[in-house]
Amino acid sequence: MSIVSKRLLSSAAPPLEAAAKKFYGDKVSYGSLSKAQKAFLDRVIRVDQAGELGANYIYFGQYTVLATKYPHLKPVLQHMWDQEIHHHDTFNKLQTQRRVRPSILTPLWKVGAFGIGVSTALIGKEAAMACTVAVETVIGGHYNQQLRILMNQYQDIPVYDEHGKEIAEPDMEIKDSPELTSLKDLISQFRDEELEHLDTAIEHDAEKAVPYMLLTEAIKLVCKGAIWTAERV
Ligand SMILES: [Fe+2]
Ligand SMILES: [Fe+2]
Repeated sequence: MSIVSKRLLSSAAPPLEAAAKKFYGDKVSYGSLSKAQKAFLDRVIRVDQAGELGANYIYFGQYTVLATKYPHLKPVLQHMWDQEIHHHDTFNKLQTQRRVRPSILTPLWKVGAFGIGVSTALIGKEAAMACTVAVETVIGGHYNQQLRILMNQYQDIPVYDEHGKEIAEPDMEIKDSPELTSLKDLISQFRDEELEHLDTAIEHDAEKAVPYMLLTEAIKLVCKGAIWTAERV
């Protein structure tokens, strides 16, 4: 595991409890979220959907240029691309379920991401891998930040027992609603997969790209700008 991904993992949340209602069935219910909490969830889904769409198109671009030229890279790129397609599909479904409007800049994210994938791959396979390092570093950190907020700012939602009485100190298993628990599980799973992509890229000579620092720092800036924008429009 690379130093970057170790650092990102160590600042991450502890593993999350799955199946919040396992022992309690439908006996518990939850108070509604505040306006700010709801707005944050919508923003999470909008920006993550846009980000995964971008990742999907970056790998599409890289695969288009590199897969036939370097047969040994084909399965590596295919595996990462498949995972991005799954991430993208998952957030598409959540977006429909929660009726979150997509980022209005969706066409730009597609063209821009495909362009980044193709252009870095045209510089060389090392530059394509350096692009992956930059993207996954930013995305890993971004997911960690979302997890921290989901863990710290959703603690005040009341939990009610089967008689509708508020439970004063709910157990860990029922503290978070199944919806919140599954979103946190999903984000931490995707975060781990992004960090695997980061490690894969380093194993495949990302650091040999010239000029590595300039390339990765420039792409990180682009990603941060895209995240900032997709959260808002
Ligand atoms: Fe992803
Ligand atoms: Fe990824």
